[in-house]
Amino acid sequence: TRRVRTRDLAAAKARGDRWPMLTSYDQYTAAIFDQNGVPVLLVGDSAANNVYGYETTLPVTVDELLPLVRAVVRATTTALIVADLPFGSYEEGPTQALRTAVRFMKEGGAHAVKLEGGRRVAAQIEALTGAGIPVMGHVGFTPQSEHTLGGYRVQGRDESAAQVVADARAVADAGAFAVVLEMVPGEVAKTITKELDIPTVGIGAGPDTDAQVLVWQDMVGLRTGKAPRFVKKYADMSGILAEATRQYAAEVRGGEFPAAEHTF
Ligand code: KIV
Ligand code: NA
Repeated sequence: TRRVRTRDLAAAKARGDRWPMLTSYDQYTAAIFDQNGVPVLLVGDSAANNVYGYETTLPVTVDELLPLVRAVVRATTTALIVADLPFGSYEEGPTQALRTAVRFMKEGGAHAVKLEGGRRVAAQIEALTGAGIPVMGHVGFTPQSEHTLGGYRVQGRDESAAQVVADARAVADAGAFAVVLEMVPGEVAKTITKELDIPTVGIGAGPDTDAQVLVWQDMVGLRTGKAPRFVKKYADMSGILAEATRQYAAEVRGGEFPAAEHTF
């Protein structure tokens, strides 16, 4: 097998084939997703919440994300690995964006990068694609702007739909190979998906995008507490780990583990 390329994703759109994407931040999950039908993995800045325990995605740094990117790249043979540019690492302009993206490509071994924003980051996307770095855009709800957007809220309802459409179009026009649509009404996502030549990747954007993405800990129910409405839990990993932990702890306390077969 060979690595998935951005042109394979363009071809999938042309054929009308949908594809799944997941986040991954470590070698075991990356290998499992890679070997079980997920052609694109995102080392998201959501590692801020899901790995490092921050409240928001804002604090996570390039230096915290780079080792996770390297782990995911090393553990996979087929998936295209996208590295998220964290807050503060590209907003200053094309020069800063290029410097950061080059680190993810060179030191991280990523195959593409992702950054948040539409019209406001078109110049950054042009600089990266001009330098030969594939870029995935991200419009609609953009978590790095949550303090401006007023929390986790659907973007593009009613008259603001045109804003999201314009942002998605700007990302495509700047040369991105795909664009994430996060928390936008299904009808708006459907319109954008029809209008753009590049694949759209939905999260909380309904069934009519070219691809879907979820945070892996949400997908398998590892995250505790209430998940957003757009999440479907395909397993109860939190329950499975809790039960295994209780058994292990009880067996150590009870002297049942380790047994003879675990002993040299
Ligand atoms: O960081 C992330 O997990 C993301 C996806 C949800 C698109 O940006
Ligand atoms: Na992200």
